[in-house]
Amino acid sequence: MTKIIIDSKIGNYNVTTSVDGDKSISIRTLLIGSQSYGNCKIKNLPKSEDILSTIYGIKKLGVDIRIKNNLCIINGCGLNSFKYKKNLTIDAGNSGTFARLVLGLLIKSPYKIKLKGDKSLSRRDFSRVVEPLKKFGTTFNINNKGLLPLEIIGSNITRPINYYEKRGSAQCKSTIMLAALNSPGITKIKAKKSRNHTELFFKFLNLPIKISKNKNFDIINIKGENQFKAFSYEIPGDLSSSSFFIILTLLSKNSKLKIKNVNINPTRTGFIKIISKMGAKVKFKNKRLISGEEVADICVESQKNFKSINCPKKLNSNAIDEFLVIFLLAAKANGVSTFSNLEELNKKESPRLKLGSKILNMMGVKTILTNSSLKIFGNPSLELNKRIEIKNYFKDHRIFMTSVIAALAFGGKWLIHDADSYKSSFPSFLRIIRKFGHKFKIN
Ligand code: S3P
Repeated sequence: MTKIIIDSKIGNYNVTTSVDGDKSISIRTLLIGSQSYGNCKIKNLPKSEDILSTIYGIKKLGVDIRIKNNLCIINGCGLNSFKYKKNLTIDAGNSGTFARLVLGLLIKSPYKIKLKGDKSLSRRDFSRVVEPLKKFGTTFNINNKGLLPLEIIGSNITRPINYYEKRGSAQCKSTIMLAALNSPGITKIKAKKSRNHTELFFKFLNLPIKISKNKNFDIINIKGENQFKAFSYEIPGDLSSSSFFIILTLLSKNSKLKIKNVNINPTRTGFIKIISKMGAKVKFKNKRLISGEEVADICVESQKNFKSINCPKKLNSNAIDEFLVIFLLAAKANGVSTFSNLEELNKKESPRLKLGSKILNMMGVKTILTNSSLKIFGNPSLELNKRIEIKNYFKDHRIFMTSVIAALAFGGKWLIHDADSYKSSFPSFLRIIRKFGHKFKIN
């Protein structure tokens, strides 16, 4: 078990960097590529553990995937073309996105497949995708808590479904969209707003998808069983990974940061909207479109005063992975910030609303926590000089990285356990901190 010790605040820096490729888009690219015909060429795929779990999982299903330098080549054989032996087990590791989305591609699998994951993934709800997938005609063996491991037994004959996604979960919506690819007829989805990478991908590939948008919901119709050709795709940088350094730069002194080539899909920028309302000035430069996704260089500088916020609930889904770092900004803001309707945050790799509040309390920040909300009493002159130990957090990568940012921004002596947790989503995280000129000990 490695631990990291951080016992000094970060000094000033002026750095231009890039971050690893976007996790959500990478997993979708691999899964959708596996269903295409021919050789897909994917540039800039991150080498994070979640992506490796996805690659191993798809390889086990008989798809030829090779990595050459910065290029990943997937040799797809078309829809529903997986070839595998009986008694197959797929280990999704820590990746909720891979574990849920791959089930959508298995609704016709001829033999039973077992799906399992690590300790953190095994406490997360799978009934949210199993129940709608059953309606296609697929059978599941799953315990009554809806947890992994589960078994999926596909059906020869599937039927399209009508599905209503009420949580604002892009994983649930995308699982059904992938299942729709392999099902005859038109699958109709009414989905609360959430990240739309799968929709953009289907459009990028000219697949038969129709989307109409209402204020709170999107109506998505997908015509299934359309074979499609292999494609080339470039993965943009991950805004969720960038958010750690955007907050660090805002909270530190006399520093400047430019992050090149980051995905700024509007369904992912809730984080930027929230911190802008708190007074942060973040600029998008050199905006462009790459593989159907909006990309820009992000520029940010250190600042002094931040306002508290009553965070609009409509931004929750578009900022769901960034709340932990937003809480750090709220800790330094002038006044009391309120975040509500966030019950989904406790259903991530760890109970993030609860643990986020606990870390703030360890830092001496007052909070009021309920099952779905958090009030944070900000302190603009927050400085730490005490000892803080972070452990037992289910190795949640975002809890680890948030703790490192808190240590670098607020000071104190931090001992953070499970120091390799960040590798599941952002393998370059510590390397970039070294680029900022900071030294730390790992033992
Ligand atoms: C993701 C959707 C979100 C997010 C997760 C990735 C995706 O989960 O938290 O990190 O790639 O679709 P939910 O769909 O459960 O909100």
